[in-house]
Amino acid sequence: MSETLPEAYLGPQRVFSGVQPSGALHLGNYLGALVKFVALQERMECIYCVVDMHAITLWQDPAALASQTREIAAAYIAAGVDPTRAIIFPQSAVSGHAELAWIFNCVARIGWLDRMTQFKEKTGKNKQGASVGLYTYPVLQAADILLYKATHVPVGEDQKQHLELTRDIAGKFNNDFNAPGFFPLTEPMIEGPGARVMSLRDGQAKMSKSDPSDQSRINLLDDADTISQKIRRARTDPAPLPEAVAGLSNRPEAANLVGIYAAIAGMTDQQVLDRFGGKGFGEFKPALADLMVDRLAPVSDRMRRLIADPAEIDRILADGAARARAIAEPILEETRRIVGYVKL
Ligand code: TYM
Repeated sequence: MSETLPEAYLGPQRVFSGVQPSGALHLGNYLGALVKFVALQERMECIYCVVDMHAITLWQDPAALASQTREIAAAYIAAGVDPTRAIIFPQSAVSGHAELAWIFNCVARIGWLDRMTQFKEKTGKNKQGASVGLYTYPVLQAADILLYKATHVPVGEDQKQHLELTRDIAGKFNNDFNAPGFFPLTEPMIEGPGARVMSLRDGQAKMSKSDPSDQSRINLLDDADTISQKIRRARTDPAPLPEAVAGLSNRPEAANLVGIYAAIAGMTDQQVLDRFGGKGFGEFKPALADLMVDRLAPVSDRMRRLIADPAEIDRILADGAARARAIAEPILEETRRIVGYVKL
């Protein structure tokens, strides 16, 4: 990957992030992203997008896409994002995302995209059968972020490589067009205990919307019984929990459940082990399930209520799109000038 240029970005601090409406939201999305979205709105201007253009890089049922988009917006709000402060909108409603992505397609190098591990994971051996959109997916992601000159992006660990690419694209654009400091070199915000929530069936695989087994994840709309049952059936080993964090190495499933408990309770892994070290999963799992239900039940209740009123969600999304456009338009206008498009 190319070296980024030492250059000062002097614009305002701004947060951008997005979630794909490609399936039910799960605990990993909640802990890795939504919880951070809520915390950041207290101290920075925040823009939270529902990235429907990214979702269609894999085929989506058109009848389901709009309702899934509203569902993600509902999840943002149910988790605590305040739409009168933060901007919530669907990506496809602001055409600047597509326009800037085209310019960045001409800045990014094929060699950079060839190194993207998510593309390889999603296509497996069938690269030839993948959509071109899936291949240039990370370029659109860079456009999402830089259309608003976002300086901070809260995401889970799996987005790290895409954010490195975003910095490379910003640096190369600024360099190629002799516009030092025009686009910021965005900072990823990945740290925190929920940055990598793993599958309940396999401690080596991340919890994912696309895992065919629903038992592998806790969905935000799962009811209390389903959550308890999934935790009870979560894969573990027979040993009791260790007294110290070092004892979790080589025990990925145990480490995952301890990490989830810590993320929800706002504790460190060691504090969880101070409480449960030496105890078996027969005791730990019900405690974890209770904690999870206490935390998620109000979120899913609010989400259900919001989903029942799609017109209200659409009103919030339309308002958000108008505010997003107002930020994007001058940045896009300046980008067009820098690239040399004729101004009519
Ligand atoms: P998506 O829709 O896959 O996931 C949304 C967010 O949830 C995080 N996440 C996780 N965090 C912890 N543990 C997990 N198991 C887990 N699974 C998912 C993701 O890291 C993400 O923060 N490419 C992005 C969407 C996107 C975007 C952007 C993000 C498009 N444009 C611009 C930030 C900025 C994605 O696929 O997220």
